Amino acid sequence: MGAIHRSRAITWLIVAIFSHLRANGHDYPIDDSVGLGPVFDGIGAISGGGATSRLLVSYPQSQREQVLDYLFKPNFGASLHTFKVEIGGDGQSTDGTEPSHMHSEDDENYQRGYEWYLMVQAKKRNPNIKLYGLPWAFPGWVGKGTQDPYKYPLITAKYITKWLMGARKYYNLTIDYVGIWNERPFNSNYIKELRKTLNENGLEKTKIVAADNHWNDIASAIQNDPELAAVVDIIGAHYPGTMSPKEASATGKPLWASEDYSTTDNKIGGGCFARIINQNYVNGNMSSTIAWNLVASYYNGLPYPNDGLMTANEPWSGHYEVASPIWLAAHTTQFAFPGWFYLKRGFGSGHLEKNGSFVTFIDPTKKKFAIVIEAMSHEHSQCIRPPLPQYSITNQVALFRLQGSLKNLVDKVTLWRTCLKFNGPSSLFERIGTIPVVNNVIELKIDVDCTYTITNTAGQRKGHYPNPPAGQEFPLPYHDDFDNYQIASEAKYFADQTGVFEIHNSNTPKHGRVMRQMVFNSPISWCTDAAQPISLIGNSDWKDITVQTDFLIEKGEGVLIAARIGFGGCNIAFTPGVVLRITIHGYFTLSEDLGGFLTIHSGKLLTPIGLNTWHTATLTVKGGMAAATFDHKPLFNNIFVGYSEGFAAIGAQSFIPVQFDNFSVRRS
Ligand SMILES: *[C@@H]1O[C@H](CO)[C@@H](O)[C@H](O)[C@H]1NC(C)=O
Ligand SMILES: *[C@@H]1O[C@H](CO)[C@@H](O)[C@H](O)[C@H]1NC(C)=O
Ligand SMILES: *[C@@H]1O[C@H](CO)[C@@H](O)[C@H](O)[C@H]1NC(C)=O
Ligand SMILES: *[C@@H]1O[C@H](CO)[C@@H](O)[C@H](O)[C@H]1NC(C)=O
Repeated sequence: MGAIHRSRAITWLIVAIFSHLRANGHDYPIDDSVGLGPVFDGIGAISGGGATSRLLVSYPQSQREQVLDYLFKPNFGASLHTFKVEIGGDGQSTDGTEPSHMHSEDDENYQRGYEWYLMVQAKKRNPNIKLYGLPWAFPGWVGKGTQDPYKYPLITAKYITKWLMGARKYYNLTIDYVGIWNERPFNSNYIKELRKTLNENGLEKTKIVAADNHWNDIASAIQNDPELAAVVDIIGAHYPGTMSPKEASATGKPLWASEDYSTTDNKIGGGCFARIINQNYVNGNMSSTIAWNLVASYYNGLPYPNDGLMTANEPWSGHYEVASPIWLAAHTTQFAFPGWFYLKRGFGSGHLEKNGSFVTFIDPTKKKFAIVIEAMSHEHSQCIRPPLPQYSITNQVALFRLQGSLKNLVDKVTLWRTCLKFNGPSSLFERIGTIPVVNNVIELKIDVDCTYTITNTAGQRKGHYPNPPAGQEFPLPYHDDFDNYQIASEAKYFADQTGVFEIHNSNTPKHGRVMRQMVFNSPISWCTDAAQPISLIGNSDWKDITVQTDFLIEKGEGVLIAARIGFGGCNIAFTPGVVLRITIHGYFTLSEDLGGFLTIHSGKLLTPIGLNTWHTATLTVKGGMAAATFDHKPLFNNIFVGYSEGFAAIGAQSFIPVQFDNFSVRRS
């Protein structure tokens, strides 16, 4: 063989090896010439359902703004496309209650709670963000005491419409989507009434999502009722496990995972989110995934601790944690936008050969695109529900072959990567650099537990602030006279679990502003409200504390002061605790539960207390003993209580107006 022949042979050999390596990669056409898939409706998250952002609003301003930037600011962090909030309904909705804009039929107030603030902040950062409101509970008057929000559909439709009108009038916010009743049955007449009432009030553009529950019942109702089909814009289902039935697609409506994720915000939570964002489309035709919840800003002792995209539940220290789900959201949210299109399965989206998935988004001009690839292992991507069927996954090479509008469009693309490591530091949302597009093929080596985005767009950024202050325990002693708040706002750190406690002026000038219980009828519950309005504060592992407060009963039975309240949320009615009740008739009881069934001590006050007079009470727990004072005189001492731990709390005997002032907690 001559020299020339030999070099030719070597070239051939190299080409052969190269093509052999290439042949090991699996070929995936990325092709819009067969038509586009559904419109992408965005990735979002939920504040509320319930009270999940409660502690965020009490953060020092600089850290609060930083957290909001990580969530909402475009090209910075999670950069969410959709922000869904609870339409507060005065009832317990998972981690607390959120106030209604109408505690009673003749009451209207659009300053309550924190969802307005958060929506304004989200819009300020991203004017294109879509807003979505959904009720969990309703105030009792809506159902005229029936516990049924559909009994008087027009009343409920007007009540919900007023919330949307309030958003427009007081905050210049347009609510893009409104839902029916979270995870509860829907009612077709009500949905039609809601559409009519929205239209009559200039809200024709607000779309209706139904029914934030299961697929089948709403899909078949839509198929059997053309009038219903005409008023439901989107079918939203919860925790679909990436699947939807044929009946849902057959309606022709966009399908959304309108609540999903709900997983601890550790690396597995990140893996869960990456997998469902892609596979909700690939397996279930869904065009939007909305995470519960936006940010875990509720006490760890409440249900579903840390089930946000990140955690910010220490307003006293300013500490927060930017968790991996923020960066796995960014892999889609910073690259593709509502109004872009998915490419069809088999033509840009689908499963990878060795498991995992990929999804291609293309903009309406067909000039910009992004391919999001996730290769999360089963072990590292389980969401808390539903169960994830077993699968295995291995490292693999993909060859994405650009065709249709994308053919000859680019000669290089940018690659971003997250690799979750379970025995060392992860790489989160790293810009790896550009990779060549050779003959319209993008070659990507895909490793297990990694997520990649390939794009021809620019502007993405891994936002960063200096580390927030270190974490700290809730500071004791703690005192609040409630004087430095706006009317109708909520006192910092208190987490209402039944009823709603707001700041109002006292009718006694000496007391200035006070915290007042504002719900006077049982709400239409979402889960279970206690019979006693109650607001928790502090730490679920407090043992030896003294809780002190001034109180005034405007009408009704009496007040509660408590320590060692074991839990809140939908089990609040059944929580253990050490609970002192003082009634206007001049009696007191001490019980070891909120319900008052486990009474361990009772007696008569030295003086009756009457209505509209201020009094002071303290409850001290230390080891196995409880003691109390009333108007600074001992009420009892050394009453044996079980060893337990929990929050401090104040509350009322029933749904009555009571006021609190000069609240304090100290170690005993
Ligand atoms: C209200 O919001 C719209 C955008 O939704 C904006 O164009 C308009 O300027 C805002 N109006 C005021 C008074 O802020
Ligand atoms: C998804 O939508 C496509 C096109 O509308 C349809 O052919 C397919 O059956 C749907 N898949 C499921 C799981 O419903
Ligand atoms: C993908 O997962 C399925 C389900 O576990 C399994 O049967 C299949 O072998 C996996 N494919 C590869 C290439 O590992
Ligand atoms: C609140 O308590 C402080 C002492 O802790 C007392 O000085 C003050 O007068 C009280 N305020 C009212 C309004 O009673």
